[in-house]
Amino acid sequence: AENMLWGGRFTQGLDPLMVKYNTSLPYDKIFWLQDIRGSIAFARANRAAGILTDAEFSAIEKGFEQVAEEWKTGTFVEKENDEDIHTANERRLSELLGKEVGGKLHTGRSRNEQIATDMRLWLRDELRILEGYLSDFVKCAVARAENEIDVIMPGYTHLQKAQPVRWSHWLLSHATAFTSELQRLRETTSRVNRSPLGCGALAGNSFKIDREAMARELGFEGLLYNSMNAVADRDFVLETMQWGSSFMLKISRWAEDLIIYSSLEFGFVRLADTYSTGSSLMPQKKNADSLELLRGKSGRAFGQMAGLFCTIKGLPTTYNKDLQESVEPLLDHIKTIADSMQIATGVLSTLTIHPEKMLAALAPEMLATEFADYLVRKGVPFREGHHISGRVVQLAEQKSIPMDKLTVKQLQGVDERFGEDVQSCLNYERAVELKDAVGGTSKSAVREQIAVLKEILAGK
Ligand code: ARG
Repeated sequence: AENMLWGGRFTQGLDPLMVKYNTSLPYDKIFWLQDIRGSIAFARANRAAGILTDAEFSAIEKGFEQVAEEWKTGTFVEKENDEDIHTANERRLSELLGKEVGGKLHTGRSRNEQIATDMRLWLRDELRILEGYLSDFVKCAVARAENEIDVIMPGYTHLQKAQPVRWSHWLLSHATAFTSELQRLRETTSRVNRSPLGCGALAGNSFKIDREAMARELGFEGLLYNSMNAVADRDFVLETMQWGSSFMLKISRWAEDLIIYSSLEFGFVRLADTYSTGSSLMPQKKNADSLELLRGKSGRAFGQMAGLFCTIKGLPTTYNKDLQESVEPLLDHIKTIADSMQIATGVLSTLTIHPEKMLAALAPEMLATEFADYLVRKGVPFREGHHISGRVVQLAEQKSIPMDKLTVKQLQGVDERFGEDVQSCLNYERAVELKDAVGGTSKSAVREQIAVLKEILAGK
């Protein structure tokens, strides 16, 4: 253990399994670039503070350029004692520059601040990529909503036919939910993008380091203002996972809708072959695996979130090695979400819709509310109108005919206030167009929603 970075006070080596158990390099090497950028910023600040000479700083910067090149080209040789990415980079730098200069880099610095810095830098950039994917998905839904605004489908509550709505309205119901996620994501990114660098192991930095300058160089939006919190905190991971879980919950519900709508029984939509798979046994099958995986992977995302909450909840302040366990779930979480967003956009942009099937699935009973509304317009209190309309539905059921086959005479038998014009109620398009208050399913109301979403997409 004397050869380890921290080996000064140790006399015995680590148990071989303990070495493996402890090392994070296999996964935290993904942060090699962030770690190097952070180290260069730190060295530059130490030059300004008089800890490093100009020559030493230049040597360190050059040395790191080579280390970066090695990572980039896959020629970086990992050594047995490379515990993590910070150790590996510093070890390699010292090999290149000699221990005299390499050994000065870490003055006043702790890996505790390094890992928090690396993770935040990496995550900030990933979240910006996700913001792009999520915008693409919402844009795709909005574009379809614009193009397919004439299509009418059954709207459901309790998965029972409820009232007719525009297909666009369904699309936008999800797009609106995802737009909240887009806004949340932007806010989360800004909180992730704060600098812990210069906080030391927990107590702060003794060498008059300019934290603001380092933060600026690394593109952070600001500083974390308490050094103990800066190294103890994994809020930025937890918040990301809460956001990610919320996104996955919504994508799961979206997928569930489309799984139902793509079944033969509904037949409203058809998935492109590119996002479906077949059965090894049943030749006729075309399964919506893409959508099922979107639904399935949501469970995995929630698990990662719940797992990290449990890991962190009992930790004494400040840094504890348990925090290393935040890295792998985060990496998987981000990958799962990035993939899911792209798959969802692929599914949606290649989806075929069958408006005639949607139309055929509309049932006259879905207009029962229109009968009640009709009576309201004749001055009948809604509660009474609702009751009368219910009796109309019952009459049709007794006669085993659809509601729209009842004659005006029969309707008047239920309530004499039904006039000849009651037939106008039996029109899906009309029912849809009447819902023209803000947020409704009429064409004008749908177009308003499209305009609102476009503004948010544009960052307003
Ligand atoms: N690999 C560690 C992590 O991911 C870096 C910090 C280690 N610090 C320490 N004092 N052991 O959390």
